[in-house]
Amino acid sequence: MNETTRNAGGTDVSSLNSDALQQLLGQLVTDLGAAVNGALVVLGDRLGIYATLAEKGPATSQELAAKTGLDERQLREWLSAQAASGYITYDAAQATFSLTPEQAAIFADPNSPVAMTGGFYSVSAVYHDEPMIAESFRTGSGVPWGAHHDCLFCGTERFFRPGYEANLCSNWIPALEGVHDQLTSGITVADLGCGHGASTLIMAKAFPNSKFCGFDVHPPSIAAAKGHAKDQGVGNVDFQIATAKNFPGRGYGFATIFDALHDMGDPVGAATQIRRSLDPNGTFMIVEPLAGDSLAENLNPVGRVYYGFSTMVCTPSSLSQEVGLALGAQAGEKRLKAVLSEAGFTRVRRATETPFNMILEAHP
Ligand SMILES: C[S@@+](CC[C@H](N)C(=O)[O-])C[C@H]1O[C@@H](n2cnc3c(N)ncnc32)[C@H](O)[C@@H]1O
Repeated sequence: MNETTRNAGGTDVSSLNSDALQQLLGQLVTDLGAAVNGALVVLGDRLGIYATLAEKGPATSQELAAKTGLDERQLREWLSAQAASGYITYDAAQATFSLTPEQAAIFADPNSPVAMTGGFYSVSAVYHDEPMIAESFRTGSGVPWGAHHDCLFCGTERFFRPGYEANLCSNWIPALEGVHDQLTSGITVADLGCGHGASTLIMAKAFPNSKFCGFDVHPPSIAAAKGHAKDQGVGNVDFQIATAKNFPGRGYGFATIFDALHDMGDPVGAATQIRRSLDPNGTFMIVEPLAGDSLAENLNPVGRVYYGFSTMVCTPSSLSQEVGLALGAQAGEKRLKAVLSEAGFTRVRRATETPFNMILEAHP
């Protein structure tokens, strides 16, 4: 053994497989860059730098500083980091920065179907909340959704809304048996765990003859949803604070849960209450993260994102509530169908899917 290669912690680097070590270190350099530049994405979004670049670019750092009113030296450092990330484009000959159409679609337009900046607000919340999650690991007590940093709530809305805008009314609802026609004629709809009401409002605007009720356990989210409804002038929608197990009403023609069933402590109890509240011809649509049934199937980039948020948010959220089933954000179709079956749903099928979501349809 070469004593010079062994550090104080006892690691003998000379005994390691050099190729495997270099490959992992290479990945870690990339990941470290991504992890720190996530904060810069939030910064660029918050300060309107991406939007100004999209509108006024190509521009030098001086021109951009004049256009944004920001400090040139700090802005130049941000531009350099973003160019090194490949998030913006640098022209060395002109010393200008710009966005390609693809970069603009991802970073500069919050309504684009490929907008990604919202996800980075949620990432900043989980870094902020890490000590709270560490304590939950020690105690097993979980962490309620509402205990997180505010960035999680707007981040979730901003990350999910573009996908709902792109898919909900054009792909997901048409994939269900008869629901599009029922919504067009006019039915009552319950959207459970609605958060800021992005999904509820999209449906309410598309189906003016139907009435939509959004429910969520988190009071500030319901307040935000009500604010959005008012700002957007949507009248056929109501938002109330309620859990998915105690929400009011009967005879709903359609019930939905978007990316929230696995956050609930008692998803079987919630689905049972939903079944009881549905009209006999009603439909329950469950939008959940896309996942295979086994861990091995989910060891991929999408699974990595979901397991990360599930560790920091979804699993502690479920554990903080009664029952604490803790499905996790990668539960998979088999596990979700078992929950729905236990709740008394007899006909359940996967209606459709996207690269991020699976859409299940259940009938009483
Ligand atoms: C990941 S967010 C999804 C929000 C929204 N559906 C969306 O797609 O933007 C999960 C939501 O579930 C809510 N939630 C968690 N447990 C709940 C429960 N037992 N009953 C009702 N809502 C719940 C949280 O407050 C949070 O707003």
